[in-house]
Amino acid sequence: MKENQAAERIKELRRQINEHNYRYHVLDQPVISDLEFDALMKELIELEEQYPHLVTPDSPTQRVGGEPLKEFDTYRHRVPMLGLDNAFELEEVKEFDRRVKRTTGHSYPEYMAELKLDGLAVSLLYREGLFTTGATRGDGYTGEDITANLKTIKQIPLKLNSPVSMEVRGEVFINKEDFQRLNQERIQKGEPPFANPRNAAAGSVRQLDPRIAAARPLKIYLYSLGENKLKVDTHQEALQILEDLHLPVSPHRQLCASVEEITSFCRHWEEKREELPYEIDGIVIKINTFSLQEKMGVTSRTPRWAIAYKFPTPEVETRVKDIEVNVGRTGAITPVAVLYPVHLGGTVVKRASLHNQEVLRQKEVKIGDHVKIRKAGEIIPEVVGVIKEKRTGEEKKFSMPGECPSCRTPVYHLPEEAALRCLNPSCPAQAVERLIHFASRRAMDIEGMGPAVAQSLWEAGLVEDVGDLYYLELHNLIPLERMAEKSARNLLTSIEKSKSNPLYRLIHGLGIRFVGERVSRLLAENFGHLDSVVNADKEELTSIPDIGPRMAYAIEEFFQQEQALKIIEKLRSAGVNFTQPGNEDDNHPEENYSLSGYNFVFTGTLQNFTRDQARTQVEQRGGRVSGSLSSNTDYLVAGENPGSKLEKARSLNVTVLQENDFARLLE
Ligand code: IVH
Repeated sequence: MKENQAAERIKELRRQINEHNYRYHVLDQPVISDLEFDALMKELIELEEQYPHLVTPDSPTQRVGGEPLKEFDTYRHRVPMLGLDNAFELEEVKEFDRRVKRTTGHSYPEYMAELKLDGLAVSLLYREGLFTTGATRGDGYTGEDITANLKTIKQIPLKLNSPVSMEVRGEVFINKEDFQRLNQERIQKGEPPFANPRNAAAGSVRQLDPRIAAARPLKIYLYSLGENKLKVDTHQEALQILEDLHLPVSPHRQLCASVEEITSFCRHWEEKREELPYEIDGIVIKINTFSLQEKMGVTSRTPRWAIAYKFPTPEVETRVKDIEVNVGRTGAITPVAVLYPVHLGGTVVKRASLHNQEVLRQKEVKIGDHVKIRKAGEIIPEVVGVIKEKRTGEEKKFSMPGECPSCRTPVYHLPEEAALRCLNPSCPAQAVERLIHFASRRAMDIEGMGPAVAQSLWEAGLVEDVGDLYYLELHNLIPLERMAEKSARNLLTSIEKSKSNPLYRLIHGLGIRFVGERVSRLLAENFGHLDSVVNADKEELTSIPDIGPRMAYAIEEFFQQEQALKIIEKLRSAGVNFTQPGNEDDNHPEENYSLSGYNFVFTGTLQNFTRDQARTQVEQRGGRVSGSLSSNTDYLVAGENPGSKLEKARSLNVTVLQENDFARLLE
């Protein structure tokens, strides 16, 4: 075949293959047999082999990318991917509806009710109709670039039927049957099975080798538009647009004109959830009209215009074999029930938290009791209560110990706390827990340093605190039990790599009480350098919105400990990064171009920035600010009393940001 004929045929084959793909994977209405489809693919592959320069990245032959990656690039979300507030009772959904009516002043707001798929959130970016990037949600601000793996999902068109540029968001998941099959295969191959479909989906999209991801039965449904310049007024229209673009959207959704319609949708699916091919854990309820969504606004973590009604968590019965006590990294002593193993929500549960001695007393759990257990927040098993009718009189009462099970120091019951605490700063159990926390994925992300390794490093006397990790050498590690040379080298590489983490990870890793990931970010971003956090007084700390006196006290107290200052010096001498990218003394300026290529215009008065400050913030991130709107403008930031620019922006289809959206974009 001549080249121009081949080019024509290739185009036609791609069109047909995409069409059949859509019919099969999105509509579930194939019109040709698998054999016929394979024949079309085969013809395309052969033609592309003959004319390799005609291969384009959006060709259906290009779904499974080349070589495995070394690691994923990080991906910064331009608009943060927020989570949802949960409602555990239908009464809370009714309260949400009252809140919406009160805040918007609207008596009949419309809602969209959708299934809450239990998978993992991803963002897909299309540029001029081509699928260019896909990322995980990560912490909502930065995720991982998993484009190669998402391209293997056949429901995702590599090329849309219209040259639009937009971001779309949705959930990747695995069907229940596919999950069973996948696990059977894994067991046969001697690989550990996945605990549940969500873990299987998450594990699959995080494969560095796209060929492995391609072999996993991943599915996706999209549930919202992200950043875009489309003219849409309602969520319903947005979903319709996605469907018109042949993107996969769950058909099970309902526009609700009243809270009664919402609650009957919730009840319906609570009953019928087993009939669905995939797992859902609730119903998401969103205000349909975007202008009303804007009126409700967002908090730093969740929108106020949506809520997730979570189905009651399943409970199972088992018996308490024993009760043990655990020492956490802050010295809290928690009772834990050791159980006769039971299946619950896809995992085998062997232990369940009893929280603290107060809860233990209230629930009156004894060794030998029959108990109901469930998963709190779907992850951590907890004892719901004792089935007292099943008691035989043989059960044994358990009392909390008077001393720490690890270091034998007497335990304290601080008056303001429910927990008992071991206050010994050199308690071994606490030290090991601190190492584990420091290395965990959300903190310094040191791969290869799980609980067992942390324990043996401590027992071998190689590390007393997290500062010592940076002075480990190969010859220290090799004699450790279960530490082969290869894993020792890998561990040292991950420790070395963690030195250049942004400051917030380090702050989080230090394990200051009440300071989780979000507060660590606030501290890192506001102070820029660890030394400034160390030296900050209560006033400076509480001047940051969201940091209250209790947190400020804990932070100040933490950095007054000699032990903490010693660790910081060890970290400094080892060359661990103490700065947060995005700040003046940033030593990773390359990470600071999040707004590069974006044009901004401002209107109205901003509350937290002068115009000059706002301009500097944009320019520091590589963006441009101009005085007047044009079709090149990407964002109009509208403060109080916006001028005529607001109208003009709407007519030009320019994205309008409220001040809080703008602030988040800067984050
Ligand atoms: S909307 C700002 N819709 O639930 C709104 N989320 O707990 C954000 N999810 O991270 C999400 N099904 O992964 C939305 N129909 C649906 C969803 C859904 C599942 C997940 C999503 C999100 C999590 C929040």
